[in-house]
Amino acid sequence: MKLLVLNGPNLNMLGIREPEIYGSVTYAQLEQFIRGCAEQMGIQVQVKQSNHEGVLVDAIQAAYGVMDGIIINPAAYTHTSIAILDALKAVSLPAVEVHLSNVREREGFRQVSYAGMACFHTVMGEGIEGYRTALQIMKEKLQNKN
Ligand code: DQA
Repeated sequence: MKLLVLNGPNLNMLGIREPEIYGSVTYAQLEQFIRGCAEQMGIQVQVKQSNHEGVLVDAIQAAYGVMDGIIINPAAYTHTSIAILDALKAVSLPAVEVHLSNVREREGFRQVSYAGMACFHTVMGEGIEGYRTALQIMKEKLQNKN
């Protein structure tokens, strides 16, 4: 089982950025955490982060025919990017949306998720543990398919 874990803008600033919302774990530690969880579950992961919408679109397209699923935290592009939504629809891979914070309890402009419209599940408000949850949910989904 091969999954792409894709992280959007400003997530590279984890540990520095608004720790009261996003916690004190750095992005490097988050990547390590994701790799560790995936290894425990017997999942191969490619973990990527970009601040650029087009790079995220390219990464989603590159997953086509290579990956079995996508776990995505599009960060601020969640709420703005039809291009990311369209890319997820184009490759038609099972996708899970992750947010560290509980966006539902935040500002009005965070209440729309375009990317989420192409995801079969959303995990939010669990901090970095949300990535473990997302990996687990994806694993169950892909196992039930076979
Ligand atoms: C986020 C929530 C988004 O609204 C925000 O723009 C982010 C991070 C989260 O993980 O909680 O950058 O996706």
